[in-house]
Amino acid sequence: MNIIHTPVMTNEVLSFIPNDANIAIDATLGEGGHTQLLLDKGLEVHGFDRDEAIIEKAKLRLSQEKKFYTYNQKYDNIYDSLPKQLLGNIDFMLFDLGVSMFHFKEASRGFSFSEKTSLNMALGLNDKTAYEVINNYHEDDLIEIFRKYAEIKYSKSIASAIIEKRRVKKIETTEELENIIFHATPKNLRYSNTHPATKVFQAIRIEVNDELNILERALSFLPKILKKDGVVVIISYHSLEDRIVKRYFKEYQNTKNRSSLFNVLTRHPLIPTEEEIEKNRASRSAKIRAASLV
Ligand SMILES: C[S@@+](CC[C@H](N)C(=O)[O-])C[C@H]1O[C@@H](n2cnc3c(N)ncnc32)[C@H](O)[C@@H]1O
Repeated sequence: MNIIHTPVMTNEVLSFIPNDANIAIDATLGEGGHTQLLLDKGLEVHGFDRDEAIIEKAKLRLSQEKKFYTYNQKYDNIYDSLPKQLLGNIDFMLFDLGVSMFHFKEASRGFSFSEKTSLNMALGLNDKTAYEVINNYHEDDLIEIFRKYAEIKYSKSIASAIIEKRRVKKIETTEELENIIFHATPKNLRYSNTHPATKVFQAIRIEVNDELNILERALSFLPKILKKDGVVVIISYHSLEDRIVKRYFKEYQNTKNRSSLFNVLTRHPLIPTEEEIEKNRASRSAKIRAASLV
């Protein structure tokens, strides 16, 4: 089987597993890279992913494992999906946010504009696709998404170029969208290091998959899932996700009169070593925050 994704910051992730841990949740199973390491440590692993196709890959990869269970669910549904006897009994929990290399290179759902395919970007269990966002959203909503999720300065010109094109014909492919974005970007920025479509595609993906709202909801369930002293590790890849995680831990740390409090284990987020970034460029923006339930 062809495994595409390299798990990031594995030593750092493993260093947070409590000594006497037995049961773990991998909230973002993907192809099972991190889960494999947790299983190798002797943990029972409950792996969640909203993408059915990638769960099938993980199942094949880990088919020999006895203590491995999968759930095709979004991670804000962990509390409702986990067998009740496990609630409050989880020793270790990992969130490796975003998408997998599988999505960029194999899924053919238009996550990357270098893949010439139809506009989709749905990870699974979605109520919309990129096609719907691009062809149905009001201009102001497109501007808002580009600004909020990717801090794009020329959001308005991209949104109006989209509206203009779709008046003539629906925008159907990644190639068409990339072309529109490219020509709506000021000339002096078209050939900078990052292609102008990269951030726009990221913003659309966040919207299609409702990534930030789901993350906030998932965090709110942690105190009911983890055991006392249980640890959660969150790997984020952009500042919006990291801000949500940082704020959540801050809010629940040192706050009096709360029934559950977190002990933050990373005063500053951990980042990958130069060596890891050299071997795996996809790891370059990763940041780890970890906390234990008091
Ligand atoms: C970065 S990859 C995880 C890679 C994995 N740690 C590995 O080593 O193979 C993130 C995974 O999270 C999944 N995912 C994204 N948002 C999700 C959500 N809200 N609920 C469940 N899974 C989600 C994606 O489908 C993807 O497979």
